[in-house]
Amino acid sequence: MKKIGVGVIGVGIQGERHAAVYANNPLSKLIAVADIDGAKAERIARKYGAEVYFTDYHKLLDMDEIVAVSIATPDFLHRDPCIAAAEAGKHVLVEKPMATSVSDCQAMIDACRKAGVKLMVAFHNRWNPVFVQTKLSVTNGDLGKLVYAYARLNDTIYVPTKMLSWASRSSSLWFLGSHVIDLLLWLFEEKPIKVYGFQRGGKLKSMGIDTPDLYGYVLYFKDAIAFGENVWILPDGSPTIAEFKLELIGDKGCVYTDHSRGRSIEKITDRYIIPDTYVYYDLYGKPLGFTAECVNHFIECVAMDREPIVKGEDGLIVTKIISSILESVDRLAEIYVS
Ligand SMILES: NC(=O)c1ccc[n+]([C@@H]2O[C@H](COP(=O)([O-])OP(=O)(O)OC[C@H]3O[C@@H](n4cnc5c(N)ncnc54)[C@H](O)[C@@H]3O)[C@@H](O)[C@H]2O)c1
Repeated sequence: MKKIGVGVIGVGIQGERHAAVYANNPLSKLIAVADIDGAKAERIARKYGAEVYFTDYHKLLDMDEIVAVSIATPDFLHRDPCIAAAEAGKHVLVEKPMATSVSDCQAMIDACRKAGVKLMVAFHNRWNPVFVQTKLSVTNGDLGKLVYAYARLNDTIYVPTKMLSWASRSSSLWFLGSHVIDLLLWLFEEKPIKVYGFQRGGKLKSMGIDTPDLYGYVLYFKDAIAFGENVWILPDGSPTIAEFKLELIGDKGCVYTDHSRGRSIEKITDRYIIPDTYVYYDLYGKPLGFTAECVNHFIECVAMDREPIVKGEDGLIVTKIISSILESVDRLAEIYVS
């Protein structure tokens, strides 16, 4: 089978992972990468064997050999490269959140539909084995009718202060909450009727990063309630950068998950850490973990002309709910989701 030619737009932390997966998947060939930071683009191109690199992603999109692209620019910069990629006839895998406004999501869906190309959103927790097991417990009826969920995805303060240069133009709600909300919608298999949200700030602002320290929110489903929490200021001494917990309660059973603190390996030096052997890790040069599986799924869909598990519409509904939570925070009121 001829390899699918692929390009990656935005090769920071997450874009590098996409590039590594494409370079290792026997179905794909990494042809080019693009990043406004030319030195970074060059380093990633060399490391993963891409033929060329660009600082202007339009040049990458001009290449006929490229059939599909990943977009891993900052949260609020997904729309323009996605629409340009669709207009150039490329299939698109866009990082989460799909975009930070409903109108941007709709424009991206419209452009991909018009061009007849696939559009997938990288909600990689759909490939997280712990949540796949949880979903199975819902669909096979083990839990009965779902009544309550508590989901907590928090990061250490390293993420908004050192890892992301653009944290003040995003938030824990967009960066982390988008994962939680996609997970809750997938498990509950319905849209909430209304939402309520709140935020607290101070610490990040005092450090010159204009974004709240935390968001909390309630999703009111028809017969169930889900509570979500995204804190961005956990102490740097935490053993993992992210902490993800879920409690899902039905009228016949419940599931509790805590994959981020699974203690199969603990490492203690001048600090205590739990190395990642689960989300994304390297095994003799091969990228593994559910982040890699999500990107592998996209390339398989392109190669075999299948529809991706997570579509543009899934990205749009998450953005719509986050927008409603933000409206609720502003108005101190429950907001009905249209
Ligand atoms: N870091 C993670 O663990 C992680 C996990 C899952 C999803 N994501 C998502 O992936 C996306 C990227 O996040 P990241 O952590 O890699 O951020 P990052 O800041 O490390 O990388 C973003 C890259 O995009 C580049 N860029 C900005 N504007 C560009 C443009 N117009 N053209 C080309 N390149 C451009 C930047 O120079 C940078 O290298 C975000 O949407 C984020 O939410 C990140």
